[in-house]
Amino acid sequence: MPVAHAVRFHRFGPPADVAHLESIEIGEPGPGEVVVRMVCAPIHPADLNRLEGRYGEKPELPATGGIEGFGTIESGDGEAAGLRPGQPVALSQTTGTWSERIRVPVDRVVPLPQDLAPDLAATLVINPATAWRMLHDFVPLTEGDWVLLNAANSAVGRAVIGIARSNGWRPLAVVRRPELVPELLDLGASAVLLDDDQMRAAIPEITGGAEVRLALNAVGGASALRLANALAPGGTMVTYGAMSRRPLELPNGLLIFKDLHIRGFWLTRWFRQAGAAARGAMFHELIQLATKGVLKAGIAAEFPLSQAAAALTAASTDRRTGKVVFRMRPAESI
Ligand SMILES: NC(=O)c1ccc[n+]([C@@H]2O[C@H](COP(=O)([O-])OP(=O)(O)OC[C@H]3O[C@@H](n4cnc5c(N)ncnc54)[C@H](OP(=O)(O)O)[C@@H]3O)[C@@H](O)[C@H]2O)c1
Repeated sequence: MPVAHAVRFHRFGPPADVAHLESIEIGEPGPGEVVVRMVCAPIHPADLNRLEGRYGEKPELPATGGIEGFGTIESGDGEAAGLRPGQPVALSQTTGTWSERIRVPVDRVVPLPQDLAPDLAATLVINPATAWRMLHDFVPLTEGDWVLLNAANSAVGRAVIGIARSNGWRPLAVVRRPELVPELLDLGASAVLLDDDQMRAAIPEITGGAEVRLALNAVGGASALRLANALAPGGTMVTYGAMSRRPLELPNGLLIFKDLHIRGFWLTRWFRQAGAAARGAMFHELIQLATKGVLKAGIAAEFPLSQAAAALTAASTDRRTGKVVFRMRPAESI
């Protein structure tokens, strides 16, 4: 029976306390299943929330951590889907990626070109897909339109900047740390503003008075209110994260007099509702953008699975740029 070392948790609590390396049996692949030998997998805010028991859906315990990652096909029933041993793949709609090996249905596997960098491949599904969907599914944008976003230095924010620019839309990036301004301008933000009370007044000068019809909120609390206030009448604010852990509190007048559309996005829900063709079309676009360099990997640190506590502590550290990733084997081994 194939076994693997994996980072697991048997109870909810502080991530670095509850996660431990264990040996698990992954089982032989059945019909329509493959075993993927993992190379690397990131630690996302949602991973930390899953370990804390504070995610939208609580996993059944014990559980293996990790919601996306990169590896190569090792064995199984992948031939019909063109998945031969050694094929590089990303994992989508999958939990349990913090493991040396994972057994998954073939429809959870996204085949990748041979030359895509492992760190980019391991972070291609969740955050870029979220950015992609939010930019395409809520407000029809045309060339030159502005898109306002907070937490612009996050992986989602950086993907929003890249995808928006590649479509001719103008990302108006909001950050809480001034030192990030030059970096995000280099990345392609049309303007970068500090997340403070001067933000709203600065926007008309930057946009030349053009309406801002879409805002993407990953912070909540006072930051979300600032985004909502900056929107044009009839504009849409999409909330997809709550990094400040503060609730949304909006004055009634923003709905009565401005008729703002207050929406939410959860990629898990999108994946459940989308058909295979829609998922495939989006992955195709994301792979193209990654290949062209529009999407970039930002890696802050990497750890082996055996240093789970240190990795989770690093991932929980505030004011980091880039992802903390688990590295199961060197990229050269692919
Ligand atoms: N709804 C969905 O389907 C979906 C999908 C993907 C991600 N998300 C959510 O999107 C958000 C970003 O995810 P990510 O993986 O891109 O994050 P990330 O790369 O780990 O970056 C985290 C971001 O949050 C900011 N931040 C942290 N604490 C904050 C606070 N107290 N107040 C304001 N900002 C704070 C950081 O600011 P600094 O840059 O200044 O450090 C950083 O920009 C998370 O909430 C995540 O759960 C949701």
